[in-house]
Amino acid sequence: ASAASESAKSHPMWSSRMAFILAASGSAVGLGNIWKFPYITGENGGAAFVLVYLLCIAIVGIPIMIAEVMIGRRGGGSPLQSMRKLVADSGLSSRWKWLGGMGMLASFLILSFYSVIGGWAMTYVGNSVSGNFVGATTEQIGAIFGNLLGNPGELLLWHTLFMSLVILIVARGIRSGMEKAINILMPLLFVLLLVMVGYAMNTDHFAAGFSFLFSPDFSKLTTEGVLTALGHAFFTLSLGMGVMMAYGSYLPKQVSIVKTAVTVSVLDTVVALLAGLAIFPLVFANGLEPGAGPGLIFQTLPLAFSQMPGGVLFGTLFFVLLVVAAVTSAISLLEPVVEWLEEKPAISRFGATLIAGLSVWLLGIVTVLSFNVWADVTPLAMFERFEGKTLFDLLDFVTANLMMPLSGLLVAVFVGWFMSKQITEGELKLGNGLALNVFMFVLRYLTPAAVLVVFVYNLL
Ligand code: PHE
Ligand code: NA
Repeated sequence: ASAASESAKSHPMWSSRMAFILAASGSAVGLGNIWKFPYITGENGGAAFVLVYLLCIAIVGIPIMIAEVMIGRRGGGSPLQSMRKLVADSGLSSRWKWLGGMGMLASFLILSFYSVIGGWAMTYVGNSVSGNFVGATTEQIGAIFGNLLGNPGELLLWHTLFMSLVILIVARGIRSGMEKAINILMPLLFVLLLVMVGYAMNTDHFAAGFSFLFSPDFSKLTTEGVLTALGHAFFTLSLGMGVMMAYGSYLPKQVSIVKTAVTVSVLDTVVALLAGLAIFPLVFANGLEPGAGPGLIFQTLPLAFSQMPGGVLFGTLFFVLLVVAAVTSAISLLEPVVEWLEEKPAISRFGATLIAGLSVWLLGIVTVLSFNVWADVTPLAMFERFEGKTLFDLLDFVTANLMMPLSGLLVAVFVGWFMSKQITEGELKLGNGLALNVFMFVLRYLTPAAVLVVFVYNLL
């Protein structure tokens, strides 16, 4: 039976280069693009911040994405398994394998709260369709958000629905589950986004939104802004989580890693900029604050939808877009752990998904309760840095500010300094000249230096 189950476990592959691009950009394009990018851009004064962010994508994001996909493809297994193999092939200490383990743990932890926020987006689809925002005042819209967060039963219900959807897709496997879902969801996302931008173009304030995003005023740029931009480059490209390693392990050998990583990064960036072009004209047209913070799309934007003609339709479209983006990212967050469990001879794909999914769901309850019943539970309050931080805030902090940059830094150091260079040559096919040397230089010096700065700053 064990031989049969093992032969049944031949490692699947994405069906094409396009399938990988859609899956990886499905992972990259998420709440980070549509929720986080607009509000941090708003908080940091617009175009100058955007410019720094673009630089970070180029210098830090793309090289690390290339490195992670390469580790995955060469290793051919879960992040832990792939690292184990590469370390053995390069004759290095087996401790390096924990780099893969850390990514897997980070993706597991992140999914537990990503799913709860995905659930918020789902309730906002319901609120938009049923016209709850029509003519609503700022207070009423604030109350809708507040009531949602204050109600653990409702949060749990939507978290459960969101995770069920993710489990259903992932359980069916790379080709018949994830690829099929992504092939429908990603084009849908692009169409919805273009409709939203089209609408924004027809408001009187499109030019204001456009120049907010694209005509830089460097006096508005702060150190804090530069660091935020760098941190976000990680989050938005799904780096430091084992996700790109896991997805890379299903990438056929003949596909160019460099070209695909650049394509995915460009797509992610384009979506973030389009989201900005869809959102800021509405913000300006309605006299709202671009620097409203995390509530920008859950509190500010519904106010815009409440006042504009066709607000029910466009509000609904917008939140459907948000759910779609969140789902394709969430499935990528479940994959590293599922792939790892699936490597155990006794565990099937379905079993692996169920075990991983249910554990994530269970952990998600911590986030659900952090907004209400446990709102006053702040276990690290004795440190000034963590005063008032709930369990959810701590999870977010540990993953986004510690695990992600640390794992990204180590990936760059591992590939730049330790892993055998023949592996890089063989996988990237950049020849042995200028292109490879530029890549190695960036990965050895620029990327680690940039990440180190953010990392240390976030700690202090
Ligand atoms: N890149 C996703 C976003 O922008 C978030 C994410 C991070 C997804 C890490 C997977 C892994 O929303
Ligand atoms: Na993103």
